[in-house]
Amino acid sequence: MKNLQKMVSAITLCVGMVAGAQAAPDTIKFSHVVAENTPKGQMALKFRDLVAERIGDKYVVEVYPNSQLFGDGKEMEALILGDIQFIAPSLSKFSKYTKQLQIYDLPFLFKDMAAVDRFQRSEAGQALLNSVQGKGLTGLGYLHNGLKQLSANDPLRVPSDADGKKFRIMSSDVLAAQFEAVDAVPLKKPFSEVFTLLQTRAIDGQENTWSNIYSKKFFEVQPYITESNHGVLDYMVTTSNEFWSGLPDADRDVLKKALDEAVAHGNQIANEKGMKDRQNIIDSGRSQVITLTDAERQQWVEVMKPVWGEFQEQIGQSLIDAAVASNQ
Ligand code: LMR
Repeated sequence: MKNLQKMVSAITLCVGMVAGAQAAPDTIKFSHVVAENTPKGQMALKFRDLVAERIGDKYVVEVYPNSQLFGDGKEMEALILGDIQFIAPSLSKFSKYTKQLQIYDLPFLFKDMAAVDRFQRSEAGQALLNSVQGKGLTGLGYLHNGLKQLSANDPLRVPSDADGKKFRIMSSDVLAAQFEAVDAVPLKKPFSEVFTLLQTRAIDGQENTWSNIYSKKFFEVQPYITESNHGVLDYMVTTSNEFWSGLPDADRDVLKKALDEAVAHGNQIANEKGMKDRQNIIDSGRSQVITLTDAERQQWVEVMKPVWGEFQEQIGQSLIDAAVASNQ
């Protein structure tokens, strides 16, 4: 009898342990390459908090910033392999998976972030979120960072000032063509290497948004920043088809809603943060912000805009027309 009681207790304990194990929340890893005090960094943290609040018994989001877990080049593969569940790469980093998103790299395409936003909300912009579906990736939404500026060791006022200079670019052929158009030398390098490349003068300059230039301290090693607003740096929040379709419907809905709210939060701070970090850079006195005259800016437009023609076939003219129309 005693033995039977012992056996029953042991079975009860085992069942309890298994039930307990099943109840442990699943870990969702969100990996990104920027600092936490950026629109993307803040969005990821907001997502983590909303998930904890709403469905924390089932999922826990772990955020890995600053290329801590995976840097450029590796994060998409890691997502497809299931090592992580969310990333939000810059739209410039998808060219291995789709040529259509190259549209966002065309220089001087959007007149401001409101135009970018209008395009992203349009039917054509929304359809682009599905452009990587065939490659195992699910685009869940756009996130803003902002317009890019040019930083360098020397002042850049007109295109000929960039002649022969080496610029770090993201992994985009359009961005390569953009710098080649001004006779500069583009080098595709991961974001995590940019500060050291600039500091050691292995390269002369780079292009980025105010919040990235500030949070990664590029301004401390780049004496000049030209406020060119020549292109956009936005993101696509991305998961894998396998992870997303494997979720129970009700959980997927909760996670998507939390993500949409986190993205809205990130978008709201993107603009404010950009302007604040621009001012922080000016106040630091480490870097001089160069404002172009209309005539100087027009020179950059004239030299860089022909790049559109080179990529027209890959991107599609109707998509380019839809983006141009968003400027009205
Ligand atoms: C860059 O590589 O410069 C940016 O895409 C980094 C980022 O994610 O904002």
